[in-house]
Formats: sequence, C-alpha cells, structure tokens
Amino acid sequence: MIKKIGVLTSGGDAPGMNAALRAVIRTGIDRGLEMYVIYDGYKGIIEKRIEKVDRHFVSEIINRGGTIIGTARLPEFVEDAVQNKAVEILKEFGIDALVTIGGDGTYSGALALSRKGIPCVGLPGTIDNDIASSDYTIGFDTALNTIVDCVDKLRDTSSSHQRCSVIEVMGRYCGDLAVYAGIACGAEIVVTSEHPTPKQEIIESIKKQIQEGKHHVMVLITEKICNVEEFAREIQNECGIESKSEVLGRIQRGGRPSASDRILAARLGYEAINQLANGNGGLCIGIIDNKVTATPIEVALKMKRKDNLELLNICTAIK
Ligand code: F6P
Repeated sequence: MIKKIGVLTSGGDAPGMNAALRAVIRTGIDRGLEMYVIYDGYKGIIEKRIEKVDRHFVSEIINRGGTIIGTARLPEFVEDAVQNKAVEILKEFGIDALVTIGGDGTYSGALALSRKGIPCVGLPGTIDNDIASSDYTIGFDTALNTIVDCVDKLRDTSSSHQRCSVIEVMGRYCGDLAVYAGIACGAEIVVTSEHPTPKQEIIESIKKQIQEGKHHVMVLITEKICNVEEFAREIQNECGIESKSEVLGRIQRGGRPSASDRILAARLGYEAINQLANGNGGLCIGIIDNKVTATPIEVALKMKRKDNLELLNICTAIK
C-alpha cells in the first residue's frame, strides 16, 4: 500500500509547475497520504534534500511562476549506479512512490525508478509542448502568451520603422511555440524544426511579399535552426529591407501561469495521485482531446508527436 509520496520538479522550469505541486500535495493530503517534497529534481534525492510537508507548504503559490522546490538537470541520472543510490535513499526515507513533474528527460528518470521498484507518475511540465502523450504541457500556454505579448510589441516598432524582425523562440526541437504564436500574431513567416523551409525559399517569399505591398515583415523561428543574427543580415542584403534579430530567451519561461495552465496543472496533478493511490505506477498523465489520460511511460517515450503542419499551413495562408 502506498502511504508516503514524494514530489519533484525537474528539467527546465515552466509556469504552472507550482500549481501542479499544489494540486499533487493537496490531493495527497486529502486522501490521507503523507506528502514529501524533494528539492532540485533528482539531484535532491541523491543529496537527501527531502522534506515532509503539510497543506500550508503550498499556500500562495498557485499564481507564482517557476517552481518553489527548485529544479535541476542531472545528466548522470542515466547511470544505473546513480539510480540504485536514489532507490536506496527513497527507501531509507520510507517513500513508496513519486510524482515527477518535467519533460521527457524527467520521464526517463521516472521510468528507470519505476522499473527498480519505486512506482512513479510523470506530469508534463515544460514550455516546449514536446510530450507526445499530452496535447498540451503545463507551461506552454503561459509561454505562448508571453511570446505573443513580446511579438506584438516588436510589431509596433518593426512596422513604424518598416523593418523585418527575425524572432527566435524556444521549444527545443518542437515548433509549437513558433507556430501557435505565428498564427496568434499574424507572422509573415514561421520556421520550425519539424518542417524547415530552406533559407533561399524564405528569402524569395519575403521579396515577393514586399513586392506585393508589405512594408514590414515578422519572421518567427524555433531555436536551434540557425543563427538569427546572421539570418537577419542575409535577409537585409538580399531583400533590401532593414532587418533586426531578437532572441526572446528565458523570459519565455517566467511569469504568472495563465488560467489554462493552472487548470491543466490541477487536473493532471489530481489524477497523478489517484493513479498512485490505486497502486498504479510507471505512468504519465496527459490531456488528449480534453480528457485526462494515463499512458505507460515507456509507451509515451516512443510516441510520435502530433504534426503541426496543419497549423503551419494556416499561418502561411493568412499571412
Ligand atoms: O525545455 C525548456 C527549455 O526552455 C527549452 O525551450 C530550451 O531549449 C531549454 O529549456 C534551455 O534550457 P536552459 O535554461 O537549461 O539552458
């Protein structure tokens, strides 16, 4: 029987992680379980930074960005010896199960621990929206709204100066932030890693749009595709429009979580505890077609993400 549950946040922080933490801890306490937090992700297990908490621990955090229990990336957690040490320490603290909030690296850690006898349930907490077992991840909506706000502001100045703005957004290898923001902001060009457009094609499209009467151009591009500063220079040289690059950076990860992210965090956090209380581990919780789902972690890690080409085509059509 599961009596003591630990919870951690791992990987890049995301707005809504605190709301998820709150939902997990309060649902656990409501069900008569003992709840523990682990500081700074898997690193906190190894360093024995594990603390029993009551419901007040998560007071006043539903509206706060980041994660109050900290997060870290621990590349050595792929090693068997490190995982064994984590299991040993969790047993020493009497922790029967874990809720892990993070991205796919966090899920891999949770799978390893589940296989070694500590049932884990993962929640998708990342701004990237790159978890295939959930239509949306906790943090994506807030980051998207932050990007929209920044791009709207850049549009004001770009249009006043009749410039081209080349704006790099986060997402790792997932273009959802770029494509959703592209639609919401009416970007002229969106470039994603899933469907990369050759540079020359982009340049020809900008030339054509200028010939057709556009006085300024907004280009949204997912990180890790190219150096946006150099690309802006190429656009300026080839298209004859003054061009400036902007890297939005980690500002995209901060800020108050949106209502959607808070609600998603609450629904998924509640289900994580329900699954563990019913004795089910090795799962990750997600939302598919607005229904809360539980998928075995090993299946989730092999799933292919929904293609965002349809959204990209909308962007192109309505530019
Ligand atoms: O996974 C979230 C994310 O913000 C990615 O979009 C980005 O590539 C990465 O984290 C940056 O991580 P860090 O802040 O550790 O450099």
